[in-house]
Amino acid sequence: MRNGSWPDALGAALARIKRRGYGHFAKGTMMALKKLVAGNWKMNGLSSDLAEIKAIADAARDFPAVDVALCVPSILIERAARAVPNFAIGGQDVHFADKGAHTGCVSAQMLQDAGAVLTIVGHSERRDAQRESNDEVRAKAQAALSCGLEVILCVGESLEQRESGDAVKVVERQLDESLPKGDCSHLAIAYEPIWAIGTGKVPTVGDIGEMHVALRQRLIARCGEPGSGVRILYGGSVKGSNAAEIFAVADVDGALVGGASLKAADFIPIVAAAAEAA
Ligand code: 13P
Repeated sequence: MRNGSWPDALGAALARIKRRGYGHFAKGTMMALKKLVAGNWKMNGLSSDLAEIKAIADAARDFPAVDVALCVPSILIERAARAVPNFAIGGQDVHFADKGAHTGCVSAQMLQDAGAVLTIVGHSERRDAQRESNDEVRAKAQAALSCGLEVILCVGESLEQRESGDAVKVVERQLDESLPKGDCSHLAIAYEPIWAIGTGKVPTVGDIGEMHVALRQRLIARCGEPGSGVRILYGGSVKGSNAAEIFAVADVDGALVGGASLKAADFIPIVAAAAEAA
């Protein structure tokens, strides 16, 4: 470490991140919110990729108008957070319990202890493969928020639901049932249509706009005025080539990016597009 012990360095890093604006999810009402571009590395990343994380963090510094974060595999969090102490590193999931007999799981406190400042919950890959229910996702979000982590809560419809015309209804219900109670100022929502994830397919800007406006209305109905300050990210095949068009849609306050977040060369153009749209 350059200065002091690991906990001291982490505390200083968190203070710097907070000063820079990360975590101030509740902004003005009618003003555009500061965009958040978060990378979800999913099950990708080894020690040899720390240099890429560093390259992303270094390049992101040129875009102070955008909050940038990387959610990496939990086993990489501590090394990533040490490598880029001024940059927001997050987890991709968290258990709802504080501790105990949950083999293979990671608690919110463990994420934080490792250096994470945020976590994703309710990603469709977990809702599907790990059969996570809305109740479980809500409990996870609650646990992470209680511990002081920022939360990106994912919702999204299947292709079948989209084609049957039920997308908005399904996603509104998911949000209603997954949304933690209480203060929503450390929360962001990611709308990720399942059929758009990793497929190269993206909804029309009209469909993205319709969903984001519906989510905004639900957030305000549930959280009151602070619901207008919750960032709603779009996720699903976001790339440098389509980011500007997506960020121009009303109530799109950033992106949750999978494949294109693995390399600075792919990710930074998305951050640049968010800065341009800010
Ligand atoms: P892709 O950007 O690879 O489509 O993944 C999106 C996603 O699932 C982010 O959480």
